[in-house]
Amino acid sequence: MSIHAMYHLILERLSRHELARVPEPDLVMQNPSRNEAFTKVGSEDGLLAFLYFYHALQIAPVVKPGDRVLDIACGPANQLALIALLNSDAHFVGLDASANMLERAAITLAQAGVRNAELVSGDMTALTGIADDSMDCVICTMSLHHLPDLTALAKTLHEARRVLKSDGGFYFVDFGRLKRAGTQRFFAEDKRRLQSENFTLDYLNSMKAAFSVNELADAVALMGLDFEQYATSLASFMVVFKSKNRRVLDDATQLLVLKMYGQLPTVQQQSFQSFAKWFRTGGLGLPCELF
Ligand SMILES: C[S@@+](CC[C@H](N)C(=O)[O-])C[C@H]1O[C@@H](n2cnc3c(N)ncnc32)[C@H](O)[C@@H]1O
Repeated sequence: MSIHAMYHLILERLSRHELARVPEPDLVMQNPSRNEAFTKVGSEDGLLAFLYFYHALQIAPVVKPGDRVLDIACGPANQLALIALLNSDAHFVGLDASANMLERAAITLAQAGVRNAELVSGDMTALTGIADDSMDCVICTMSLHHLPDLTALAKTLHEARRVLKSDGGFYFVDFGRLKRAGTQRFFAEDKRRLQSENFTLDYLNSMKAAFSVNELADAVALMGLDFEQYATSLASFMVVFKSKNRRVLDDATQLLVLKMYGQLPTVQQQSFQSFAKWFRTGGLGLPCELF
């Protein structure tokens, strides 16, 4: 972790302030050029490839072979593609309200050679068309901050619970709202020279729109299921709410994980290691040894 990052994290830790939430200007992401920028950073050779790989790895033990898994607000499916590849014996349904994102998602899945996923158009606050208790697992990555308010957040978690079997698994990850505008700007702009202006703006908007950790935890608790909660240490830059793991990764999956990790560029492996250590000091270890 850089000295700059540490400086901001310590100030964040010491701050007593609470920043007000500023909802996303684009709730459902319909803008093609901003969507393109978002898709690019999460793609195989994008700036955030390590982050998508990290969450795919954390999600893998929550999913069992034969599961039917709903990815709420899947966006361009960068996350979904990796998870589907790591859990080839499960079937995935990616849902999003943006037609443009679903078009991108179809391309991502086809390019990655994913055969165990389908895409549907839908609103995460009202999962109409998805039956009660029909999913073995529900995931939602970096999308809850796209909801307009706490009522929509509660509705989404209520719907997630409705479609999920009572012994099902879940994994929700999102930013936690930081306390300082300076820390928000730091994260959004740290790699400014390597990312498009559209993405820098999108990143800053996301940080501002994040729910607080307590708001997220209260909403997840409404599901009435046991859950584990983790945050990056010193500051809740990112927060994970998950069910207990439902399987131990078998040898074949671990080999695949190692292969996928080996395919990340060195700089991405370094980012992965640094991020994994940051989350580990917040309590969330990796499900298998990688470095
Ligand atoms: C920041 S993206 C995250 C996408 C993906 N989960 C990922 O990790 O890359 C947020 C997504 O939420 C979608 N979205 C926003 N509001 C929604 C709603 N009410 N129902 C379904 N999708 C929604 C947006 O269209 C966008 O694709």
